[in-house]
Amino acid sequence: MTEPTHSHGASTPASSKERVLIFDTTLRDGEQCPGATMTFEEKLEVAEMLDTMGVDIIEAGFPIASEGDFEAVSEIARRSKRSTIAGLARAIPGDIARAGEAVRHAGKPRIHTFVSTSPIHLEHQMRKSQEEVLEIITRTVAQARNLVEDVEWSAMDATRTPIDYLCRAVEAAIRAGATTINLPDTVGYATPDEYRAMFRQVRERVPNADKAIFSVHCHNDLGLAVANSIAGIEGGARQVECTINGIGERAGNAALEEVVMALRVRGDVLPYDTGIDSTLLMKTSRAVSGACAFPVQYNKAIVGRNAFAHESGIHQDGMLKNQTTYEIMTPASVGVTKTSLVMGKHSGRAAFRSKLKEMGYDLGENQMEDAFTRFKALADRKKHVYDEDIEALVDENLASAHD
Ligand code: KIV
Ligand code: ZN
Repeated sequence: MTEPTHSHGASTPASSKERVLIFDTTLRDGEQCPGATMTFEEKLEVAEMLDTMGVDIIEAGFPIASEGDFEAVSEIARRSKRSTIAGLARAIPGDIARAGEAVRHAGKPRIHTFVSTSPIHLEHQMRKSQEEVLEIITRTVAQARNLVEDVEWSAMDATRTPIDYLCRAVEAAIRAGATTINLPDTVGYATPDEYRAMFRQVRERVPNADKAIFSVHCHNDLGLAVANSIAGIEGGARQVECTINGIGERAGNAALEEVVMALRVRGDVLPYDTGIDSTLLMKTSRAVSGACAFPVQYNKAIVGRNAFAHESGIHQDGMLKNQTTYEIMTPASVGVTKTSLVMGKHSGRAAFRSKLKEMGYDLGENQMEDAFTRFKALADRKKHVYDEDIEALVDENLASAHD
């Protein structure tokens, strides 16, 4: 299991936390973004890692989109061990039949069907009335429910849909057999307060709301995807749709690793937990980044290469005394081997001394001062100071002392 984090909040016992399901859509919404395409084998490998990591539902693809997508979803379904396998379908009979066929070999199959509900989409994209869309919801959800027990329905562009109509659409979907109701922030437009309030209102006003699990699905156009996802959980959602490294349409989706660690580290104010083995986060992040040739930004939370790196002298000094001074979780809790103290012009004596020790040098005070002065001069000229640079300057220092 995961090792304890460094969290400072009073920890909430695991038993008093509510379970939130993790629905990973790296292979569908993630793979859908420009430049993130994966091969069949890569998709199988990523799906296996997600299953092992404890993802509850893997959205394996959009079976009607291509023969390749259909094959990948079918094979992932056949090989699935613990996770539910979902296939996406528009509110079109042919899509739903194809998704049903693709997931049918899974131990736990799910059809995820969606239709737009916002006036903007109804007028400009679908060219349908609200009543027509209600009829489509009833018909297509019922069709999916005839194929599988587990049906998710999404109200695309829910956050730009008037609440009265959204409630009618949700009620119709549940009546037709939907077991999960997803209210996506499709265009990343909502703020956390609005998103939390939307879930509260829908769950209060829809008479059959207790028959379904509510789900969040947030896009990151304003950089609010993770904050909104957490707000949605506070509003009563118990499933989070997210992707590894936050890949996805446009600015991406909520990042799985950020949602999982926010809930874990801040369990004192967010009494929810997931079934994710967080020690596998880094490995999975690297695998996804490698598979879709999509780099992870250096300062990305949790899995960026700087997430556990410290360069400033003050921070390095604190870290050498106690890691909780500048880290709120242990690197090991997310699968990172160790904290790194990056040697650069901001580093101080304490970090330099510790680095020398780690490299096997035991210098006297004068030699140490001399080496430190040379190191600072070098760091001013050079962006990155590597171990080899330090080795060279110390050896040079020692050689001149013997002359
Ligand atoms: O962002 C969105 O609305 C979607 C739906 C298909 C759930 O990805
Ligand atoms: Zn989406």
